[in-house]
Amino acid sequence: MNDHPTPLDRAAIPAILERLYGDAAGHTFHDVPPEPEEPPEYEGLADLLAVVRQLKQAVRGLPRDLEHVYGELTPASVHNVIDRLPGGLGAGDVFIDLGSGIGKVCVQVFLATAVGACRGIELSAPRHRQAEAARQRLQADYPAIFAAGRRLDFVQGDILAADIGDATMVFLCARLFGDDLMAGIVRKMATGCPRLRHVLSTREFPFPGLAVSDTLTVYSAYAPRGESLWIYSA
Ligand SMILES: C[S@@+](CC[C@H](N)C(=O)[O-])C[C@H]1O[C@@H](n2cnc3c(N)ncnc32)[C@H](O)[C@@H]1O
Repeated sequence: MNDHPTPLDRAAIPAILERLYGDAAGHTFHDVPPEPEEPPEYEGLADLLAVVRQLKQAVRGLPRDLEHVYGELTPASVHNVIDRLPGGLGAGDVFIDLGSGIGKVCVQVFLATAVGACRGIELSAPRHRQAEAARQRLQADYPAIFAAGRRLDFVQGDILAADIGDATMVFLCARLFGDDLMAGIVRKMATGCPRLRHVLSTREFPFPGLAVSDTLTVYSAYAPRGESLWIYSA
């Protein structure tokens, strides 16, 4: 019988991430500066980029290229988020990262929880290829983690065209996502995600039918002094 695998010990995960991503990662687990205990007074480059985004949106006709800026949450922050997930994640859950980059958040959630399926949707072909290579390496080296039909999938394409109808939890590193993209995501969730219970977003946004249940500070390469992540729950 194929039992549902138990989540991996936290201590084992940094080495697996390094094995999967090596030098190809934006930063490795150990490059990440220690996280300050005090909440930041300002949030660094992410703040500046968010202001630029607003200015750009105010000027019609300019490209929305800020949405494609890359910055990944630190592994320690992803662990903190996992610890705060309301009700945790189990075999019946589907976790989807909208704008998944090279896939580290999905990989960590897949390793550190009992989630049934993780999926990352990413527009950039090179980032998607890195995510898919990491997935293939993980499946080859640690097949037991995929037992009982557990799935880890990366899909290249636009969030707005992706199938997310089975999602129970959606993650958005969305600080630089524009209003049109956010509104499109909200429409998709409102009309096509009947099982959705939680949205985790680094951009505060009204998600109809969901209310803020928790807020925490997370750290990334472009917000080394921290930024907020809102947890919205049904
Ligand atoms: C800030 S990065 C976050 C990466 C990852 N979620 C993390 O936290 O480590 C945002 C990602 O969203 C992707 N993105 C932006 N707009 C998108 C769209 N319309 N469809 C799919 N991906 C998109 C960008 O290419 C980028 O890789």
